[in-house]
Amino acid sequence: MNETITSILKRRSVREYSTKAVAQTELDQILEAGRNAPTAMNQQPWHFTVIRNPELRRKLEEQCKTAFLESSNEALRDVASQEGFSVFYQAPLLILVSADRTALAPQYDSTLAMGNMMVAAASLGIGSCWTHAAILFHATTRGKDAYRELGIVLPEHHELYAAAGFGYPSGGWPETPPKRADCVTIME
Ligand SMILES: Cc1cc2nc3c(=O)[nH]c(=O)nc-3n(C[C@H](O)[C@H](O)[C@H](O)COP(=O)(O)O)c2cc1C
Repeated sequence: MNETITSILKRRSVREYSTKAVAQTELDQILEAGRNAPTAMNQQPWHFTVIRNPELRRKLEEQCKTAFLESSNEALRDVASQEGFSVFYQAPLLILVSADRTALAPQYDSTLAMGNMMVAAASLGIGSCWTHAAILFHATTRGKDAYRELGIVLPEHHELYAAAGFGYPSGGWPETPPKRADCVTIME
């Protein structure tokens, strides 16, 4: 198996992080991998917001959690009230990918960029986990206001499409969860 496929297979969602910071050289490589993802018509309609400030991350986490606990959606309330619920799992680095909502395929572009970054991170021994709560929260008016008040200002006309925490796993590299083998049809 070549190195690329090895890294793709190695990537796992990491939910326990050490406090060790991701070095700038590694962050640069991760971002470069993201910026090289394909985009519809090569529009590259995106912006990458990197949050390394622990206090800012803590405040964002708190705002997301409070909004979930107060949500009219029972499923969100339930998940947020589970013991130990954490939006970012104290990951030392957050990357948000936003994109111009008027672009051709901003959600796909952003997701592909995040996929590249997660695999690149895994190749460097850095774990990651998609944090959907951050996206759901930003999709609400309350969330947009909260992000803005925290100083996380996305470019004009941008929507948040991908968000993930990154860092070194504290509890070892996670086991591979069950993966379906029955999801392929080959027609010849
Ligand atoms: C669209 C999407 C949303 C996800 N949201 C969350 C989330 O909010 N919290 C979380 O812990 N993991 C989240 N995950 C990670 C999945 O739970 C994880 O990818 C899945 O369990 C498979 O495990 P693996 O990534 O280790 O292969 C999300 C993944 C995707 C693709």
